[in-house]
Amino acid sequence: MRIFFRLMLLLSIAALFCYCSGSKPKKSVENLKSAFNQESVTAEKYSRFAQKALQEGFDTISQLFIAAAKSEIIHASNYVKVIQKYGGNVGAAEIASFEVKTTAENLQSAINGETFKVLTMYSGFIRDAENEKAPDAAKSFTWASDSEKKHLKYFRQAMATIVNGNETNLPYTWLICPTCGNTYNTTDVKEMCDFCLNKQENFVGYQAKAEGE
Ligand SMILES: [Fe+2]
Repeated sequence: MRIFFRLMLLLSIAALFCYCSGSKPKKSVENLKSAFNQESVTAEKYSRFAQKALQEGFDTISQLFIAAAKSEIIHASNYVKVIQKYGGNVGAAEIASFEVKTTAENLQSAINGETFKVLTMYSGFIRDAENEKAPDAAKSFTWASDSEKKHLKYFRQAMATIVNGNETNLPYTWLICPTCGNTYNTTDVKEMCDFCLNKQENFVGYQAKAEGE
């Protein structure tokens, strides 16, 4: 009888192991790690672009880069949580080398990067997560992708102002949803986050209101 119980225990452990292994969305965990790295690099890049914009006298564009960097950090943090939930480990991000050029060139680099993330990277990651039935991964990728679409719009607006020489008209104060990384300025901020329904009172502001705003 004792042998029978031991056998049952071993079979139960084996079944549990198979269940856990089988339920881990392997491809999505790889994608989450890749996205964590990409967002970490982008955050670092935007922080450097913000410094450069300030040096060139583009205060408003510097503010936009700071806000976008914070948003990317929130996306990276969300990926860490989801990877851990799936039983994976995250090491330190590998920050790839990148160039800091003029602010106009940096904006173009940001536009290219966000376009790639929206049209290629995240669309594929979301599809993989849905195929693997990994809703937490799909949700975090969707929040990031939708945020990148807004960043893309803001960067294009900033680029247009450089061409027209009216960058002082750009928003100066930015608000970030700490849950999903959604990015708002004072003209388009909502009562509740339209991605995750967080309340506006929880949004994080990145600058005291500028004079005259
Ligand atoms: Fe949100």
